[in-house]
Amino acid sequence: MNLHIVPLDPAQQKPVPKELGFGNVFTNRMFSQHYAPDQGWHDAKIGPYEPFLLYPATAVFHYAQEIFEGMKAYRRPDGHINLFRPWENMKRFNNSARRMAMPVIDEESHLEALMQLVALEHEWVPDAPGALYIRPTMIATDHALGVQASKTYLHFIILGPVGSYFKEGFSPVPVYISDTYRRAVRGGVGEAKTGGNYAASLLVGEEAKAKGYSQVLWLDALEGRYVEEVGAMNICFVYEGCKLVTPPLTGSILPGVTRKSVLQLAADLGYEAVEEPVDVHEMLAGVRSGYVTEVFGCGTAAVIAPVGKFGFRDEEYIINDYQVGPVAARLYQELTNIQFGRRPDPYGWTQLIAVK
Ligand code: PLP
Ligand code: COI
Repeated sequence: MNLHIVPLDPAQQKPVPKELGFGNVFTNRMFSQHYAPDQGWHDAKIGPYEPFLLYPATAVFHYAQEIFEGMKAYRRPDGHINLFRPWENMKRFNNSARRMAMPVIDEESHLEALMQLVALEHEWVPDAPGALYIRPTMIATDHALGVQASKTYLHFIILGPVGSYFKEGFSPVPVYISDTYRRAVRGGVGEAKTGGNYAASLLVGEEAKAKGYSQVLWLDALEGRYVEEVGAMNICFVYEGCKLVTPPLTGSILPGVTRKSVLQLAADLGYEAVEEPVDVHEMLAGVRSGYVTEVFGCGTAAVIAPVGKFGFRDEEYIINDYQVGPVAARLYQELTNIQFGRRPDPYGWTQLIAVK
């Protein structure tokens, strides 16, 4: 990749904020490149974070041909920076691109550009438990209303320092189980990281919020019976304190990098860790009987998010007395210790970015 780095105008530099929310603040620079069939990917640059000029008829505004990724850069105790399994995100970005009839990117040069961008913006990587959120995105840019795959695209990466995704921090969150609406169906685009999946979830998300819940748990679209995932994370259940279960990747669930890591960590910590269908009625009965000892979500933004209660058909199901359970706490420690470089990484999951 022929990457042009535009010098930053000192007058445009924003200070690094002290208080961190999620996704409200962005760094000074961004990466961008364009695609056209006769040129391939071109005009790769790291320049100022600035608005795009797009015509109202631009394809992405109408038919949502768009994909994105979510990753983080972590500040290590020695001051250097870690990425966590970035190769998985590059692969998933391209899987999403193929599903949405978009051009793939070169995974290696995408990662190199991303690392250069993070290195340039290294001052924005906060100390733990905060992190620098990385959002690679691709949009369709043809200036036309015909329903067909765009010929031209814009790929960009933006960065922003983040704290906890939930206002609760690492404490249990209440989750609402949608009984009427569905997020994704097998054969659809549920396993792609594309904006429409999130747009489809907003109505129920608002309903859930009005009822006092922070997230929505989605059931499968065919029977409305099997647990799939939560709005911004995959979901795990602990049976009798020792067996960790997460639903299998059926095609309508996002294959989470954190999910994959949690399955491996849990197995290596001595838990039985399996992918198994979870019947919502059996699971809720298990919560009531105490067979289900913990529930937690896992994702890049959410990390490990214990679920304190479920709401389903006007009933509440309190999990583990609304306390953080030992398995979630242990996995949170193990995972974040590797991400932040607080312990050696035996898996080769981290990519170091040395800060000069
Ligand atoms: N499921 C959905 C719908 C998500 O948006 C995310 C977040 O990216 C996840 C699961 C978890 O994926 P990952 O662990 O790769 O962040
Ligand atoms: C992530 O965890 O990176 C996500 O993309 C979740 C969400 C903010 C959409």
